[in-house]
Amino acid sequence: MGMPELVSRTAYLYDRVSGFIPPMEWPVFAEDIEAILALKRQRNAVILAHNYQTPEIFHCVADIVGDSLALAREAMRAEADVIVLAGVHFMAETAKLLNPDKTVLIPDTRAGCSLAESITAADVRLMRARYPGVPVVTYVNTSAAVKAESDICCTSGNARKVIESLGVERVIMLPDEYLAKNVAAETGVKIIAWAGHCEVHERFTADEVRTLRAENPGVVVLAHPECPPEVVAEADFAGSTAAMADYVTSRQPPRVVMLTECSMSDNIALKNPKVSFVRPCNLCPHMKRITLPNIRTALEEMRHEVTIDPDVADRARLAVERMLAV
Ligand code: 13P
Ligand code: SF4
Repeated sequence: MGMPELVSRTAYLYDRVSGFIPPMEWPVFAEDIEAILALKRQRNAVILAHNYQTPEIFHCVADIVGDSLALAREAMRAEADVIVLAGVHFMAETAKLLNPDKTVLIPDTRAGCSLAESITAADVRLMRARYPGVPVVTYVNTSAAVKAESDICCTSGNARKVIESLGVERVIMLPDEYLAKNVAAETGVKIIAWAGHCEVHERFTADEVRTLRAENPGVVVLAHPECPPEVVAEADFAGSTAAMADYVTSRQPPRVVMLTECSMSDNIALKNPKVSFVRPCNLCPHMKRITLPNIRTALEEMRHEVTIDPDVADRARLAVERMLAV
């Protein structure tokens, strides 16, 4: 089949990303996209994509898009035989925890996370020994082994609710120091933190925000709660990737900056043509490991399958399910 046919067959998909991908480049994307859509039907597969995935993945092949919380919830509801996680490894593990009988694939096993890397199961046991009886709340950005040592998980979208649901004066919150401090500022609960950081969000500074405001009068500043507390203090709103997207979609600020990963603005801008996006942003090298070609290969060759040791999985699942019940 020739290129003009490919372009015309996929015109409805190109419409979704024409503000981002130049027409000349489209045929290369279109070929992989068509192949992926056919493979999804053939394998009875769904693609779950995080908000930080590039627009051609987010808008053209994903069945479900969202923040970590939404992806975890939707993974639980998935009726397909195969789940492809277009995101990072801990997200694929969470999907597997909630779907032990399904095949969960991650297109590149190197898609890690600096927060997940910052802590081990032994570290959590150490914290428990140091603070006996204090509940351990673990951010989903961790390995299944770390979740298995925890009482309950949380995401940036529900951290406050999860902590308040425990009804205690003190919690251990691992491993994101900044998320812990940002949540502590919102609740009356004393939080014992760990020194893990997101390599994408820790790079934003309060000075940068002040300069942005001076150069862009009236700009609305949205920050992810993995940013340092002094950055969150300078922002107009802080919330999960889904909460930031909702803010833009529902309030339509004329000018906005999202202090987060770059694809976030790219994806939201395509759906909100009236909003102008100021773009200092940082790339997450792990999220960017996922591409159309490796999603295609994942479905062609059914790789890389995510597996979790059953003993770890049972305990980790409990922590995730407790979170979803809140
Ligand atoms: P969200 O849960 O807000 O989507 O965040 C996930 C993440 O990795 C942020 O860096
Ligand atoms: Fe991890 Fe930060 Fe990348 Fe999110 S943006 S996956 S927290 S390194």
